[in-house]
Amino acid sequence: MAINLQQFLAKQLSDGVIDQQLCDLLNAVADLSKEINDKVTHGALAGVLGFAGTDNVQGEHQKKLDVITNEIFVEGVEWTGALAGMASEEMDHCLPTPAAYKRGKYLIMFDPLDGSSNIDINAPIGTIFSITKAPEGKIADESFLTPGRKQIAAGYVMYSPQTILTLTVGNGVFMFTLNLGTGEYILTKENIRIPVQTQEFAINMSNMRHWEAPVQKYVQELLAGDTGPLGKNFNMRWVAAMVAEVHRVLCRGGIFMYPRDNRDPSKPGKLRLMYEANPMSFLIEQAGGKATNGYQNILDLQPEELHQRVAVFLGSAEEVERVTSYHE
Ligand code: F6P
Ligand code: MN
Repeated sequence: MAINLQQFLAKQLSDGVIDQQLCDLLNAVADLSKEINDKVTHGALAGVLGFAGTDNVQGEHQKKLDVITNEIFVEGVEWTGALAGMASEEMDHCLPTPAAYKRGKYLIMFDPLDGSSNIDINAPIGTIFSITKAPEGKIADESFLTPGRKQIAAGYVMYSPQTILTLTVGNGVFMFTLNLGTGEYILTKENIRIPVQTQEFAINMSNMRHWEAPVQKYVQELLAGDTGPLGKNFNMRWVAAMVAEVHRVLCRGGIFMYPRDNRDPSKPGKLRLMYEANPMSFLIEQAGGKATNGYQNILDLQPEELHQRVAVFLGSAEEVERVTSYHE
């Protein structure tokens, strides 16, 4: 018998893995993702393509869908009674739970629409989220700055040929496929394990000349193939949406990299720690893979700012360990 997400969460609740508030929150995230899916799949028909005419806190031009999906996310979770506050890639500062709603024990951080450059070309995009325990007292940006290791739950929704919600509550990684007929997320993959070895890598090669020496050396070795030091050929993929890259790595292994580069020393990489690298690293570790910034496990980094960026090397353990060792 097929298990849906609600039934799966009810079982986690009765097993004591999650509590009622987390159960409510995760169900709310799943529900709002269906609304996002509806907007995304209707595209031009829903008038959601193109630029919004505004910039986010990181100076990026917002797409209409960045703004719309942020609103859907906020409105989808603020009322649940599970949250003390939330923070988003698309909001300069955190949003404590409005006084009209009951305050809960959790915080949620999210990237409502990952892979924005794919929106207008009908390529994969996603939503990423990370849930932590809220501290006591007033909620401010600093309240969110706990290491990724302390996450209680994390996941993403990928909008592509299929809409898939991937989740961890700390006991493995589970994937649910949206049945568009019934509106249910059905459990379609469990106990996901990333192969230790791989012959597939993902990196934006157009930045090669800007990378630091260890990454240059490592990617040269990948490109050298079976006559090089690694003794095997590698294939390359680049979808330009982290959700899709991580999904591929969870499904069949691989190494995904977004290193820092020397164009802008104030930016340690492109991806954001709190709502991109941390939740994805939690999923990757839960599936037996590794995730580092070249020096340390991403989950052990002490965050300093809500929107801070970080270099990312994640996926099959053998390759992530190799590129990390080149940084030492
Ligand atoms: O969120 C940032 C992001 O869109 C990721 O989803 C993706 O992995 C990356 O940027 C793509 O970067 P680039 O524009 O260099 O291809
Ligand atoms: Mn993103």
